[in-house]
Amino acid sequence: MNRNKVAVIFGGQSGEHVVSLRSAASIMEAIDSDHYEVMPVGITRDGIWWTGPDIWLSLWEKRSPREASRTVLLADPTRPGLLVKSGSSMDEWQYQPLDIAFPVLHGTYGEDGSIQGLFEMSGIPYVGSGVLASSTAMDKVVMKYLFMQYGLPVAPFVCFYRWQWDGREEYWQELVDQELGFPCFVKPANLGSSVGITKAGSVAELMAAVTEALLYDEKIIVEEYIAGREIECAVLGDIEAETSRPGEIIPCNDFYDYRAKYIDDRSDLIIPVELGSEIEESIKSYSITAFQAVEASGLARVDFFVTPDSRKIIINEINTMPGFTSISMYPKMWAASGVGYSELVNRLLEIAVNRFKRRRTLLVAPPE
Ligand SMILES: Nc1ncnc2c1ncn2[C@@H]1O[C@H](COP(=O)(O)OP(=O)(O)O)[C@@H](O)[C@H]1O
Ligand SMILES: [Mg+2]
Repeated sequence: MNRNKVAVIFGGQSGEHVVSLRSAASIMEAIDSDHYEVMPVGITRDGIWWTGPDIWLSLWEKRSPREASRTVLLADPTRPGLLVKSGSSMDEWQYQPLDIAFPVLHGTYGEDGSIQGLFEMSGIPYVGSGVLASSTAMDKVVMKYLFMQYGLPVAPFVCFYRWQWDGREEYWQELVDQELGFPCFVKPANLGSSVGITKAGSVAELMAAVTEALLYDEKIIVEEYIAGREIECAVLGDIEAETSRPGEIIPCNDFYDYRAKYIDDRSDLIIPVELGSEIEESIKSYSITAFQAVEASGLARVDFFVTPDSRKIIINEINTMPGFTSISMYPKMWAASGVGYSELVNRLLEIAVNRFKRRRTLLVAPPE
C-alpha cells in the first residue's frame, strides 16, 4: 500500500526547543505506520533544518548531526516537499515529496504563523491552526480583543509599547494602580512558557517587571491578578470541534512559572477535575467559542481561572500548539475523555488533510 509521507518537524529556535523534542518523540512513535511513513525533520537552535535517522538524537544530545542531511522546504506548490542535500556541492539536492507536515513546534516561528505561512506557500497540508489563528493566539493582546468581541470573560488589562512606556512611567504606574491594582501580572505580549512573566506587588515591582518583560518583547500587557484555580480544556476538530473533560493544574510555585512548568516536577495535575456540571459545561462552551474566535483548527488547549467560590470563570489564553508529550495536559485530558494518544495523533493528520482539500478548491485569484 502507498503510505502517506509525514514530515514531523521539531526543535526550533524558541525557548521551547526541548519541550518540542519531547512532544515529537511521543508523536513519531504513535503515528500509524501502516498508513504513514514518518520523515523526521529537526530544526537546530540556530534555525537550520536537517533530516535523517540520527537527527532527533543529535538535537537531544546537542551534538552535530552525523547521519543526517541538510534540508529545506521547497516553496513551490507544484512540487510539495523538501529538497534534501545529497552531495557536497551547492548543486546537489534531491527532491523528496511530502504528503503532510506535522509541525511539533512551540513559540516563536513554530506556533506564531511563520511556519504555517511556509506550508501555505508550499502547498502542503499541515497539522494544526493556520496563519491567522496561530499569530493572533500568540499575541496576548490581540487574542484578548478577539475574546472580548465574542463575549468571553477576560481579566482587565492595560497594554503599551516600549516607546509609550519610556519617559512616561509615572502615567502608566498610576493607570495600572487605578485600573488593575496590585498585585498585577506583567507579561511580554508574544511569548510562552511563562518566560518574562512577573507578579508585581507594588509600583517598585511593576518597574522591575516591565524592565524584565521588555527584554523579550516591545509590547507589554499588564493584567489584573485573578485569584483562581487553573483549569484547562482540550479542543479537537476543525469547523466542527469537540471538547475534552477539563483538567486542573495545581502549581508548585506561587504561580505556574517557568520553574513549575519545566524544572520542578511537583505541580499536580488533576484530570479530569470534578467542577460540577454547570461549570464544566461553561468551560467547554467557552473553549469552543475561543477556538472559533481565533479560527483555530486541529488542536488547541484553552486555559482558564475559576475563582474558589466557582462564581467567576475568566479565560486566560488559547494555545494552538499545546505540549504534546504522553504526559502533557492536552493528551491526558483526551485520554480521560476516551480518546487515546495514537487515535489523537491520527485524527489530527486526517483533519489536516480534510482541511487542505476543502480550502484547495478556493480560487487564488478571481477569474479573468
Ligand atoms: N492575570 C493573572 N492572574 C493570576 N495568575 C496569572 C495571571 N496571568 C498569568 N498568571 C499565572 O502565570 C502563568 C503563565 O501565564 P500565561 O498568561 O498563561 O503565560 P504563558 O503563555 O507563558 O503560559 C499562568 O499559568 C498563571 O499561573
Ligand atoms: Mg499559559
